[in-house]
Amino acid sequence: MKFYIRTFGCQMNLNESEIMAGLLTEDGFEWTENPEEADIIIINSCSVREKAENKLYGAIGGYGKFKEKNKNLIIGIGGCSAEKERENLLNRFKNIDFVFGTRNVIDIPNLVKRALGGERFADFSDKLDEVNYIIPKRPFSKHHAWITVIYGCNKYCTYCIVPYTRGFEKSRPIDDVINEVKEYAEKGYKEVTFLGQNVDSYGKDFGDKKPKLDLLIQKSAQFDSIKRIWFMTSYPTDITDSLIETIANEEKAAKYVHLPVQSGSNRILKSMNRRYTKEQFIDLVNKIKKEVPEVTISSDIITGFPSETEQDFEETVDLIKKCRFERINIAEYSPREGTIAYKYFKDDVPKRIKNKRLQHIMEIQKKINLEENKKYLGEILTIIQEGKAGKDNTYMGRTINNKLVIYKSQDQLNGQFLNIKINKISPGPLYGEIVEV
Ligand code: SAH
Ligand code: F3S
Repeated sequence: MKFYIRTFGCQMNLNESEIMAGLLTEDGFEWTENPEEADIIIINSCSVREKAENKLYGAIGGYGKFKEKNKNLIIGIGGCSAEKERENLLNRFKNIDFVFGTRNVIDIPNLVKRALGGERFADFSDKLDEVNYIIPKRPFSKHHAWITVIYGCNKYCTYCIVPYTRGFEKSRPIDDVINEVKEYAEKGYKEVTFLGQNVDSYGKDFGDKKPKLDLLIQKSAQFDSIKRIWFMTSYPTDITDSLIETIANEEKAAKYVHLPVQSGSNRILKSMNRRYTKEQFIDLVNKIKKEVPEVTISSDIITGFPSETEQDFEETVDLIKKCRFERINIAEYSPREGTIAYKYFKDDVPKRIKNKRLQHIMEIQKKINLEENKKYLGEILTIIQEGKAGKDNTYMGRTINNKLVIYKSQDQLNGQFLNIKINKISPGPLYGEIVEV
C-alpha cells in the first residue's frame, strides 16, 4: 500500500514527516511522491497563522476529491491544526478519516491500520515518553540530517499557538541524540541540524536544570564525517555564554543563529510576553558578533501586533538598522484563537497598515543585504552543495555562515564541499562559479 505525506510549516514538521515516512516504510507501506496513486494521504499541518490553516483546508478539499476515484483512500490529519481543531475537523470535513496529535507521531503505523480497518477517529494520546530510542526515518536529504532534540515550548508569547499545540518542553535524552548523530555519521552524513522551538533550552528539563546544547554540539563534533552542526530556533534569553563560546571555538559549529526578536518596541515586547528589552536584544546581538566575527544572524518580526503605533514601529525599524540581520521572516499579526492576545487584545491595526509596515521592513532589509553582500564580491567561499536551484544546471549550496550561493554544477557533486568564486551579488543569494584551490 502506498502513502503520501504533505507537509506544511516549520522544519520540525518536516522532521516529523521524515519520521512518519520511516515508520510506515518499516511497517511495509510504500512511499510515493504522487498523491493520486496513494492509498493513504497524511497532511502534516501548521496553525501558526491563519494563512497556513487556510492552506490545510484547501489541501483537504483537493485530496478529498481523489476519493471519488479511489473509494478506499484514507486521509489523516496531523500537526498543529489537528491539535488545535481536534474532533471539529472530523465533523467539518466528511472526507477525513482520522486526526492525530503532535505527541503521537510515532504511533502512525497503528493509526493508519485503525483507519484502514474502517475506524473514523481522533487520537491525541501523548507518546513522547516512548521516543527514547533511535527513530527510523526516511531522511529527505542524503547528506543533511534534521534531529528534533526538544519538543514543545514553555514561553507562552501572547500571540502564539505553539505552546497549546505542542505542549510543555521535553528534551530527548542526550545519549539517544548522540546515537542518532552517530548513525548518520556512519552513513556519511556531513551536516546535522538540531531542532526545537527553543533549542537552546535543550536539557533544562533534566535533573541539573542546565541547558546542554553546547554539550550536544561538542559531542557531535567528535564524529569525523560530521562537518557542520546547526541548531534552530534560539530564544534571546536562553543563549548562554558557554553556547556562544562553543559556536566561536568549535570549528564545526555553524556560524549562524536564528534569533527571533518580534518587535523593537519595549511596550510591545512586554505585551507579547517576550522576556527581554530592545536594548538587551541589541547587546546580545553585538556580543555574538564580537565573539563570532563571521556569524550571521536572522530573525522573525511581527507587524501590526495589537496597539502597535507608528512610534512602536519606528523602534522596530531602528533595531533592524542596528542589528543588520542576514534575513528576516516578517509576518503580519494573525489572531490565533486560544491565545492570550486573541482573548484580551483587540486586533486594532488595520490590515493595510500591517502590510505597509511589512513592505517597509522588506525594503530596508533588501538594502542592508545588498550592502552586506558586497563584501563577498570576488571572494572564494567554501560551500556544501545542497542540490538543484532551478530547472537548468544551476545548483545551490551554503557557507558555514548560511550564505546561499548559486552556480552551475551537476548532481554528482551533491553533498560535496566546493569552492565558489563570487562574481555577482543580490539582496538574496550570491552567484559564482566553481574554482579549484
Ligand atoms: N520558536 C519558534 C517560533 C515558532 S512560530 C520557532 O522555532 O521558529 C514562528 C514565528 O511565527 C514566530 O517567531 C513569530 O514571528 C511568528 N508567529 C507566531 N505566531 C504568530 C501570529 N499569531 N501572528 C503572526 N506571526 C506569528
Ligand atoms: Fe511561540 Fe514564543 Fe514559543 S513565538 S514557539 S511561544 S517562544
